[in-house]
Amino acid sequence: MSAFTRDASIFVAGHRGLVGSAILRRLRREGYRNLLVATREELDLRDQAAVHDWFQDQRPAFVLLAAGTVGGILANTTRPAEFIYDNLMIHATVVHAAHLSRVRKLLYLGSSCIYPREAPQPIPESALLSGPLEATNEYYAVAKIAGIKLCDAYRKQYGANFISAMPTNLYGPGDNFEPEQTHVIPALMRRFHEAKLRGDLSVTVWGSGRPRREFLHADDLADACLFLMKHYDGGSAVNIGSGEELSIRSLAAILADVIHPRAELEFDREKPDGTPRKLLDSSLIREMGWQPRIALREGIESTYSWFKERYPACDGDLARGAAQRTDSSSPAAP
Ligand SMILES: NC(=O)c1ccc[n+]([C@@H]2O[C@H](COP(=O)([O-])OP(=O)(O)OC[C@H]3O[C@@H](n4cnc5c(N)ncnc54)[C@H](OP(=O)(O)O)[C@@H]3O)[C@@H](O)[C@H]2O)c1
Repeated sequence: MSAFTRDASIFVAGHRGLVGSAILRRLRREGYRNLLVATREELDLRDQAAVHDWFQDQRPAFVLLAAGTVGGILANTTRPAEFIYDNLMIHATVVHAAHLSRVRKLLYLGSSCIYPREAPQPIPESALLSGPLEATNEYYAVAKIAGIKLCDAYRKQYGANFISAMPTNLYGPGDNFEPEQTHVIPALMRRFHEAKLRGDLSVTVWGSGRPRREFLHADDLADACLFLMKHYDGGSAVNIGSGEELSIRSLAAILADVIHPRAELEFDREKPDGTPRKLLDSSLIREMGWQPRIALREGIESTYSWFKERYPACDGDLARGAAQRTDSSSPAAP
């Protein structure tokens, strides 16, 4: 097993994002002291030569690859070229540079969105590539599957210890609250918040409200990532979920209750629903001894407190992480 110790040099790629900031927060809290980060402005991870030079110079021993172009249905359907190009490039440059600079272990983040649309539920890791993809995020999924296969290929050909995790839908502090780009929890959180400020008594939810989804707090994911870095060297991607699913209607009802209890929910059935059901079978990581700790309502309450502190007036300046992104050394506050 690789020695993922507190003095090892660890590169967290994408450290200002939802996942990367949670991983960095967690590593710092546990006393890891040799942490490497680079902002997008300092190092464009799509640039193969720059990434190669950075790895040769910095020589990280461990890499957690949480960088990528990520977004909800709207962003995926309107920017398919960016979703496939950016992610293919980031995964290829980082994985290859990690191999050339002899990184001891790399954790790649896949996603539950990349399983086939009609995968059996709960979705086992073996369902990958067993059927057609969900059309609304096909380009993203193809790039993410290529990332998993990259890790697999470098493991097979060079014996590289590159592992993959498959998180379910995530939320938490540091999330992207831009309506054009975001996922369901931050999108609805912002919508309920703005409706409350305006005194609106109805809030629109995309789709029928019927699709069922599973959610995991980013801090629980960070916990699972450290667990895998310490305890898992296997070739199979590892699902990471909460094990609990609920309908979008029920999710919206929790958000309404936490943020704006007087609001009535309206469902815009003209908008796409996406995959009807998405629940991961997380028995592999559970059997290894990991389990999540943050209940959904508790996680939504704390994420909403984080959101309100940063964007109290909701005045249009909601560029995600406006506070954290000005300082690469201080990711999202806990
Ligand atoms: N969010 C979810 O629900 C979810 C679920 C399952 C899996 N995942 C996976 O987890 C990973 C991280 O997702 P996330 O939600 O944390 O995304 P995110 O919040 O959008 O963060 C992505 C990070 O990647 C960085 N990045 C993007 N393009 C870059 C480039 N060209 N050069 C350097 N850095 C770049 C961004 O930098 P800036 O800060 O400069 O923008 C940002 O810090 C992704 O692989 C995603 O597929 C996410």
